[in-house]
Amino acid sequence: MPRMTLRKILIHPDPRLKKVCERVAEVDAEIRKLADDMLETMYDAPGVGLAGPQVGVMKRIFVIDCADKDAAPDPMILINPEITWESEELNTYEEGCLSIPEIYEPVTRPELVRMSYLDADGKKHEDEFDALYATAAQHELDHLDGVLFIDYLSKMKRAMITNKMKKLKKERARD
Ligand code: NI
Repeated sequence: MPRMTLRKILIHPDPRLKKVCERVAEVDAEIRKLADDMLETMYDAPGVGLAGPQVGVMKRIFVIDCADKDAAPDPMILINPEITWESEELNTYEEGCLSIPEIYEPVTRPELVRMSYLDADGKKHEDEFDALYATAAQHELDHLDGVLFIDYLSKMKRAMITNKMKKLKKERARD
């Protein structure tokens, strides 16, 4: 297996975080390496989800691991994911994002979703996601369509957060 590499996580605002990503045409060695790198980058951050565009790869792929801290890791790779069903019941979670560090805000989404996707072997799956898995999967799928969790907040709040991130990026560039 090739060695994993940490990828740089883009910070909002960045035009690449606002674009609709392309479907993965073929699940090949390059995609598998990308998925492994994304998992490594996510665990290193640390976070529970990471999507292609967050590392500058404009492809429909994301990784999540929502296992409890004390439980064994549960890495998942979702390629060309699509929602095939969502519950009418909603759930509100405090969401965060590796591209919007240290900001947490409540977002309301369907409590349960079913998603079809390809795994790292190109095998098709359809799984139901609940609890934190449902939130993370929907949050990451949004990334593939150029949508950030702050897009669900008020315009004023979003502008405030964006200004904070611009400042953060300037500070980091100075380091
Ligand atoms: Ni995110």
